[in-house]
Amino acid sequence: MPDKIKSRVDTLISNMSLRAKIGQLNQPETPTENNIEEFKEAVRRGEVGSILMSVGATAGNDAQGEINVDFYNELQKIAVEESPDGIPILFGRDVIHGHRTVFPIPLAMAASFNPELVCRCYRDTAIEATNDGVHWTFTPMLDLCHDPRWGRIIEGTGEDPYVGAGIAKAVVEGLQGDNLSNKDSMLACAKHFIGYGASEGGRDYHRTEISDYSLFNYYLPAFRAAIKAGALTVMSSFNDVSGQPVTSSRKYLTDILRGNLGFEGFVVSDYDAVIQLIKQGVAETPEQCAAMALNAGLDMDMHDKCYIDNLETAVKKGVISESVIDEAVRRVLTVKIRAGLFEHPYTEKKTIDRSKHLADAREMAAESIVLLKNNGVLPIDKNSKVGLIGPFANERRSLLGSWTIDGKAEETSTLSEKMREEIGGNLNVINSAALAWDSTNKNIAAADVVVLALGESWTATGESRAVSDITISAEQKALIKKAKTYGKKTVGVLFCGRPIAIEEIAEDLDAVVYAWHTGSEAAGAVSDILFGVKTPCGRLPVTLPRKATHIPLYYNVTSSGRPVNCYYGENPGNCYVDSMPTPYYPFGYGLTYTTFDYSKPVCNNSKLSLQEVKNGKKFDISVFVTNKGENSGKETVQLYIHDACAGMMRPLRELKGFKKAEISAGKTVKIDFELSYDELGFYDEKGNYIVEKGKFEVFVGKDCLTNNSLEIEII
Ligand code: GLC
Repeated sequence: MPDKIKSRVDTLISNMSLRAKIGQLNQPETPTENNIEEFKEAVRRGEVGSILMSVGATAGNDAQGEINVDFYNELQKIAVEESPDGIPILFGRDVIHGHRTVFPIPLAMAASFNPELVCRCYRDTAIEATNDGVHWTFTPMLDLCHDPRWGRIIEGTGEDPYVGAGIAKAVVEGLQGDNLSNKDSMLACAKHFIGYGASEGGRDYHRTEISDYSLFNYYLPAFRAAIKAGALTVMSSFNDVSGQPVTSSRKYLTDILRGNLGFEGFVVSDYDAVIQLIKQGVAETPEQCAAMALNAGLDMDMHDKCYIDNLETAVKKGVISESVIDEAVRRVLTVKIRAGLFEHPYTEKKTIDRSKHLADAREMAAESIVLLKNNGVLPIDKNSKVGLIGPFANERRSLLGSWTIDGKAEETSTLSEKMREEIGGNLNVINSAALAWDSTNKNIAAADVVVLALGESWTATGESRAVSDITISAEQKALIKKAKTYGKKTVGVLFCGRPIAIEEIAEDLDAVVYAWHTGSEAAGAVSDILFGVKTPCGRLPVTLPRKATHIPLYYNVTSSGRPVNCYYGENPGNCYVDSMPTPYYPFGYGLTYTTFDYSKPVCNNSKLSLQEVKNGKKFDISVFVTNKGENSGKETVQLYIHDACAGMMRPLRELKGFKKAEISAGKTVKIDFELSYDELGFYDEKGNYIVEKGKFEVFVGKDCLTNNSLEIEII
């Protein structure tokens, strides 16, 4: 911490009462009309360090009022001018994937494999949200997840630590901008630390069982990247890890987060997580909850008032020392100073031209959409007659996805509107609900192509929204079957948040466009892709299984010792006797409107000594990629490794690099990768990073199942 900040913090703390110090660790939610006066008095006493700018435990699924900037400025004025120490309040809100301009859900943005664009979208987001008075957002959500039944898989980056780390960096840098103290810089918050995505059965908030080895190699890399990118806040998670609630675990919140990952900012709890230690069975009283959490390294208490109501007594009883409180306050004040909050505590709202943001949203939506299947039906000729049917043809709200507090469904175009813009009278929107299904329906009979607009409601995703069966509704499945009876080329557009079990659906369709919940510009982006205005280029950041009963099914799995590895098709019949558990669409998969050929990868320096690697020498790997088709296209060239023999078992494939390249029809481009010390090691169960001598298989291709490989060796 720079000296001048340290001395400023020391001076503030030396003048603060114990209660005022605890006030800095207290984050109530926005007051309502029935407690506003009492709330203002608490602010006046210096007991409100931060405000959660929303009402309700699952803000992502509940309607929240628009931000009243004047109201927050009024509260801020009381804190700055009337409280004993004049410390500004830090305003935090769940600005998860956009503000008024809504970008695709984070899982869809991960599918873009375009971190530069992700960064741009979060820069746009910070500009809009800080203009509404938001200083701090509770994002990026970095919970790696192997179970799509979990509703919150949509908020994260999927099943891979390397993708997660890249997104973490892009989001933090986008939100915080060039200088943390700029007015349009918004503090990031890496959440939920740690292991929340491993909730048993995908059942939200339930127990997790994670070995330290898995924690360091699957769950922590994205947090490590967020901290390296400059994240100054972390949110602890609701779950326990192997019998320890994270909220009260010094092992996770201090030894690992600060000791191993080097985090220097402050930790905020999740909503009411401190008082929930009683229900988790490790505390009997609120005072014990407060003392346990603070001693573990949890600095700020979200909503349950457990700190402000109990820490003074805890200090007086000697249950906790004031020096521990001072340390937490020091961290919070340091962040407030670095965010420039003392210099600009108030918001002067200005008019923002969102046209660039909306253009970025349309670009990001198009880059996130994954073309899964295409039997020559896409792109659709604009002179074709198109029949559009299905519950998502005129849908607005679900296209925005969960955790869209400030987006406006009424401003969101529908797929029918955008397709009409593109092909006018050639579009015939057919109401499936009212449709008397028979084989002579004239509207469908007249169509050259049928587009089914299907998907999953936003309300089936997000917090407290786990599902036991990852699929679309029975009515939508029946619609697919019925459409098939017309013998028309049929395209399925799936506006789904989570990955769904797709075998039964995809087999009856001639083309499948996975449109996720892609935000304000979702409909326009889907139309662009259907008619070839844009070429699809998204790639799956998660596996799409055949059936829900095959979960968990993820690509970065270690090998069995027996002659079977179902993900990679080694004797999959030995997995289940009643179904084939290979992935229907694997991690990294996606089609375009052309095809690409890969040369064998080559490495001119395929043997390096361990010392050379430690000294920074890198393996240089290159491949030639040729566009064999008539259309230009963007290919995401992916590089995986397999450490075939190591001190601990390593996954059969680990993504360690990707390059997204636009390649014109008939052209060949050379794609270069470097593999260095940072990509060739793993963490042991104590969190030590280890690079060993030995051979590595290196795969370069279009998804994780590629066998286009070479061997390198650290000697
Ligand atoms: C919720 C979520 C967390 C969110 C917080 C504030 O319960 O778990 O992700 O940031 O509370 O709304």
